[in-house]
Amino acid sequence: MLEQLQTILSEATTEISKANTLDELNNLKVSLLGKKGRLTLTAAGMKDLSNEERPLAGKKLNETRSEITQNLEEKINSLQEIEDSKKVLSLDVTLPGHSTTLIGRHPISQMLDDSVKALRRMGFSLASGPEIETEWHCFDALNTPQDHPARNESDTFYFEDGNLLRTHTSTIQIRTMEKNHPPVRIIAPGAAYRRDEIDATHLSQFNQLEGLYVDQNVSLADLKGTLEFLLQAIFGKETPIRFRPHFFPFTEPSFEIDILLEAEGKKSKWIEIAGCGMVDPDVFNQICKVRGDEAYSPKKVSGFAFGLGLERLAMIKWGISDIRHLIENDMRFLEQF
Ligand code: PHE
Repeated sequence: MLEQLQTILSEATTEISKANTLDELNNLKVSLLGKKGRLTLTAAGMKDLSNEERPLAGKKLNETRSEITQNLEEKINSLQEIEDSKKVLSLDVTLPGHSTTLIGRHPISQMLDDSVKALRRMGFSLASGPEIETEWHCFDALNTPQDHPARNESDTFYFEDGNLLRTHTSTIQIRTMEKNHPPVRIIAPGAAYRRDEIDATHLSQFNQLEGLYVDQNVSLADLKGTLEFLLQAIFGKETPIRFRPHFFPFTEPSFEIDILLEAEGKKSKWIEIAGCGMVDPDVFNQICKVRGDEAYSPKKVSGFAFGLGLERLAMIKWGISDIRHLIENDMRFLEQF
């Protein structure tokens, strides 16, 4: 038995040192130490030994097993190391990497930044309000009667509890006056929602920028000056702007603002970009009622409000022909800004 073990050990040592691959070593492991391996089979002979012989043979068996195991492990580790370093060496660190393209800001963000910057210079500060609104804030407080088409379920997204997704940011005019004593001078950018068919000029969710200024003796001239300054900051000093009489339930008088678009080789045309007007006395009266004071009495204060569509501004500024480009996140489009 002792001789057998000695032979197995010396054979195993030579075989292990000759092995060149991890596969060979794994096969060796099985054929030496596995269930039907040489060492295991030899160990089975223990039971035929006499009581005197057995302890010594047992000791030799254990020593042989641990020596073979150790030899195997050492060889496996060194082969593994060689293979790993081969992989590292085959890595060409001089190859160009995968680059990430840095692109400009989204047109809507740029439009928003430009507008906010210009309005801040005139003393406006930022305000905000919820996108899920009450009918009262969206319509009643803004003097919009029950039978107005905008209140229709076919135009507005209603929730079962009667609340709705705001159809314009004018709700923030109301929320601002409810909470703040005049004078107020705020701008409020935000999402608005309408049940429009989506096409080249309509989305069901879009972005507006609301403005409100209420103080003593605010006049139509202030409204005109403010909007001219804003639009010229966005589109350039020379851009012609016109105010066209219009109707909104919550302003009186009301106007739509157009700018003259001059594209090369095309006939220039007026394009509507905003609604505005002087705050209707009925709106002030509603505010007085909910506040329970006379701070916004139309006898004391006057004001103007305006609302711009940011998608529209961006489309005009950069000649974007389809509003859907603005939400599709196509890199070929976004890279151009
Ligand atoms: N809220 C109006 C709209 O969405 C725009 C507007 C705002 C008009 C403020 C007048 C004053 O069409």
